[in-house]
Amino acid sequence: MIRGGFARGNGQAATARTAAGPALRTVGVSRRYGEEAGAVWAVDRLDLDVPAGQTLAVTGPSGCGKSTLLQLLGGLDRPTEGEVWLGGRRIDGLGERALARLRRRAVGFVFQAYHLMHELSAAQNVELPALLAGASPRTARARAAELLDRVGLADRARHLPSELSGGQRQRVAVARALVNEPLVVLADEPTGNLDSAATYDILRLFGELRAAGQTLVVVTHDERVAATADRVVSLRDGALADDIRLDGHGTGLAGEGSDDGSGRPGPGHDDGGGSGLGAMLAWED
Ligand SMILES: Nc1ncnc2c1ncn2[C@@H]1O[C@H](COP(=O)(O)OP(=O)(O)O)[C@@H](O)[C@H]1O
Ligand SMILES: [Mg+2]
Repeated sequence: MIRGGFARGNGQAATARTAAGPALRTVGVSRRYGEEAGAVWAVDRLDLDVPAGQTLAVTGPSGCGKSTLLQLLGGLDRPTEGEVWLGGRRIDGLGERALARLRRRAVGFVFQAYHLMHELSAAQNVELPALLAGASPRTARARAAELLDRVGLADRARHLPSELSGGQRQRVAVARALVNEPLVVLADEPTGNLDSAATYDILRLFGELRAAGQTLVVVTHDERVAATADRVVSLRDGALADDIRLDGHGTGLAGEGSDDGSGRPGPGHDDGGGSGLGAMLAWED
């Protein structure tokens, strides 16, 4: 939405911790694109709490700010004003390095266009974030194998993305998102490129994540996807327009994962996708 004036920036770095809070929280968070007359408030003074273990669907018309919100929640972008908290830690004031570490360990991203690295096999795509987070090659390999099995792709581990269907690629992306046992999984239109059968596979996976107590925020236009969530919020012009708890789903609380092991730089790589993935895997220098 367009709104006059300029916001104050987030001056202070804030790294306070709370004892126990929601997995995700925004307080009066806004993100402005552009300046002056042409400024667009993609997210506009939004307050949102996502308890640990909740699966939340975010819906709303194209351009209402869903992707922007998801990027703020995952530390891929910083708000123009307001606060973003992840796992009890305020992240909107963190520097690039700290944010990169946090994304790698605490957040699993799934994008509509998969953003797998085409020169790497399915298994290598899943292993990579584990290696970047400091896992040994052996551990990374074992976890990738386990996750590919879990998403039904054990027999495709050595295939390149180009040798996989869209649905299979997205299942690899889900496995990759889970490899560091993230506190939250954030998915932006994960079934947007998929046919019904593949959508069903992803829904089943998300259902399993929900049952396992994984905190999950999924941006979707697809009612079938939204219907699997514990809660559905819709956005209009960057603000909350609706907030509905679905019947028949518990909002069980799950323990937080996440640790603070030491990261380890490695060789450079190619994003191959051009969106959030590069930042998601960004190196600390
Ligand atoms: N990088 C950007 N630069 C300028 N405007 C942007 C940018 N990204 C998004 N916007 C604008 O912010 C608003 C929200 O976009 P977005 O979060 O992508 O919406 P959605 O995901 O709901 O379709 C839209 O008006 C869009 O045009
Ligand atoms: Mg979007």
